[in-house]
Amino acid sequence: MYGKLGKALAATMLVATATAGISMAQEAARAPLDRVQSVYGLAIDPAGNGSLLLASGYGLLRATPDGMAEIVTPPSAAVVGLATDPNAPQKLVLSGVSETGDPAGLYTLGADASTWSAVPGTEGETGVILTSLSVSPLDGAKLAGLDKTIRLSADGGLNWTSLETTPENTFSVALSGAEPNRIFASTMNGVLVSEDNGESWQESYSSEAPATVVTSLSGGRIAAFVYGTGLVMADETSLDWQVVGTGFEDRYLRALTEDPASPDTLYAVVDTGAILLSRNGGKSWTGFEGNDLADPETIAAGKTLYDNNCASCHGANGIGEAPDDPGATDDFGFKAPALNNDMHAWHHSDAGLRATIGEGSPRNERMIPWQEVLSDEEIDTIIAYVKSTWSVRSFACQGARHGTCMGQ
Ligand code: HEC
Repeated sequence: MYGKLGKALAATMLVATATAGISMAQEAARAPLDRVQSVYGLAIDPAGNGSLLLASGYGLLRATPDGMAEIVTPPSAAVVGLATDPNAPQKLVLSGVSETGDPAGLYTLGADASTWSAVPGTEGETGVILTSLSVSPLDGAKLAGLDKTIRLSADGGLNWTSLETTPENTFSVALSGAEPNRIFASTMNGVLVSEDNGESWQESYSSEAPATVVTSLSGGRIAAFVYGTGLVMADETSLDWQVVGTGFEDRYLRALTEDPASPDTLYAVVDTGAILLSRNGGKSWTGFEGNDLADPETIAAGKTLYDNNCASCHGANGIGEAPDDPGATDDFGFKAPALNNDMHAWHHSDAGLRATIGEGSPRNERMIPWQEVLSDEEIDTIIAYVKSTWSVRSFACQGARHGTCMGQ
């Protein structure tokens, strides 16, 4: 039943050769975030400013809430694993892939938040390419990652052992934040747990659907994403899993991380490559792009501006003009489309929405260039309100990514 999805997930583990060699630098140092696909991991940027670092097929990227991404001093052509050390959140570790698809090595980020140093012996023929990289919350020298098997290191990544007992179809691995010998694996059939450093495995969250990712969170919590169910979490003392966040429909999470400074703030990578953000511990999610305007005050101000300027055509709450009369058109052969989930407002990135609203429609005089009436800030405020009517799926599929979501 989940064969196709399983193949897609397995493919993300073998991304290395497929993605290496595509250099965004050849196009532009900065690119709209919605054009970046193949994102494999993420971390809070220790340099601050609400930005994130992304492990991607383009190398290491810095993503900012204005919807842009730029290459960060690239240690390698592609980055397939990226982890924060929960014991020292400014310390990051990444796994790189060279242009030829060979291991470019592991790198750790120094305390200055800008110098990456190679971990000796991790590149070239004897090196490692690891997705789902993680650092133990109990011991910063203990690392886990995934290639064809689960790999473990007890010395900060210098030496790696391969777990022969790796469960079949493992998509991600997480080291426990509560028990030194406990490891979690997310697999085609839910989450498995090992209490003996990977020698034997038991079911923890059993499911017929794939668990696409598993991650340790602070406070001895473990989180996973189960396809078709959503985000699930458990306290490691009981391992009694609860469903926390739903509404992902046919999309799934590929990576998850928390803000060490504020554990209720979670960031996630969706299978489409989109970045989502939750400020309430995973219960509800918005897009990363424009999240700096997604606070209740801005949304309320945006609703007032929307009601006064846009609702007469686009309807209350963005339901569109004459929603009960599908055949209705104006003198130009259109009607004002729904701006909520129902039509395709979410096919536009924030920048695209800004341009459409600011410049108006060249083929319909009713949709005027609103930049002659409203300030840029007011237009951004209205966009924040319009987006507050969107589903998680619309955020997962926003902008250029919508192509990935068609027909599914
Ligand atoms: C007098 C009617 C009218 C008003 C008022 C109006 N619009 Fe429109 N709008 C339209 C029509 C008609 C279209 C379709 C134009 C087309 O397809 O060429 C449209 C298109 C759009 C689109 C593109 C939607 C898509 O799915 O591609 C956006 C976004 C939009 N309007 C936002 C706004 C905002 C924000 C306001 C208020 C600041 C506003 N509109 C006010 C009539 C209006």
